[in-house]
Amino acid sequence: MLIRRASSIKPSEITSHDLFLRRREFLRGAGWAVAGAALAPTLACGAEDEARPPAPVAGADANPFRTDETPTALEDATRYNNFYEFGTDKSDPQRHAGSLRTRPWSVAITGEVAKPGTIDLDALLRPHTPEERIYRLRCVEAWSMVIPWLGIPLAEIIKRFEPSSNARYVAFRTLLDPEQMPGQRSRVLDWPYVEGLRIDEAMHPLTILATGMYGQVLPNQNGAPLRLVVPWKYGFKSIKSIVEIRLTRSEPPTSWNRQAPREYGFFANVNPDVDHPRWSQKRERRIGEFKKRATLPFNGYADQVAALYRGIDLRKYF
Ligand code: MTE
Repeated sequence: MLIRRASSIKPSEITSHDLFLRRREFLRGAGWAVAGAALAPTLACGAEDEARPPAPVAGADANPFRTDETPTALEDATRYNNFYEFGTDKSDPQRHAGSLRTRPWSVAITGEVAKPGTIDLDALLRPHTPEERIYRLRCVEAWSMVIPWLGIPLAEIIKRFEPSSNARYVAFRTLLDPEQMPGQRSRVLDWPYVEGLRIDEAMHPLTILATGMYGQVLPNQNGAPLRLVVPWKYGFKSIKSIVEIRLTRSEPPTSWNRQAPREYGFFANVNPDVDHPRWSQKRERRIGEFKKRATLPFNGYADQVAALYRGIDLRKYF
């Protein structure tokens, strides 16, 4: 999925609003419930899905975050997940994340800001109507999905707390509560899950805090009630169920970099030219497709984000 400037998008390449309205009807018809929904068994990575979404329909729409790529089937996006707080198997989050209570929920904004504070999620949403944007997420394990997210640009939230000139990075932290998140009773990762971005990455308009997907509230297994989406980076940067956003002077630790520094760097920009130590990053399988496709630099968002990394050796800083 590519995000292009509005002026460069042909009407035939834009997914119409009608498609999204019809998707909602489809979801309602299927009786899909949000958090903790009981869905049928997991599909394996790359397996052919049966319930395909409707093909995109051409139409005029000025939203530059729309694309002509066909969204991944909802069933795949909600049954094939990584969320180690609920188990390490791809099907565990869908089966176990129902134990997470997503209300009340607050997020602390701390560190290098003039006005640190805690915001209640509903209060945060009240002045906002989350925007719908379709982004492709690419995982290191060489599969990708195209998801219509509902979210709020992270920059809008950070700006409210008035970052100081010392704020060079943004650190994120997931809830730590082994009672609600049974996977945290095992030592598979160093809990809580943490992630980080450089401040310019965090303030980029492509970066959102997602509160929903496919026109509905975010299912628990996908990171309810609030998760990060950074579409030009590998999926592990998309930290779920966030309770703290901290602005910092120095580079914050990240869970997967701490776990396996040779395999997972801080930047984690999608880069077909840098192999993962155990496999190539050159090709990927779109969930729902059989034939592999070439992986694009920055996951197809090079026009928008390559300038952030000018002068940086991305083979060294992967
Ligand atoms: N966030 C938390 N808190 N815990 C996790 O285990 N897994 C990451 C990321 N965010 C993870 C997390 C990884 S490895 C991936 S690939 C994405 O979530 C998967 O997002 P999805 O399940 O919505 O596709």
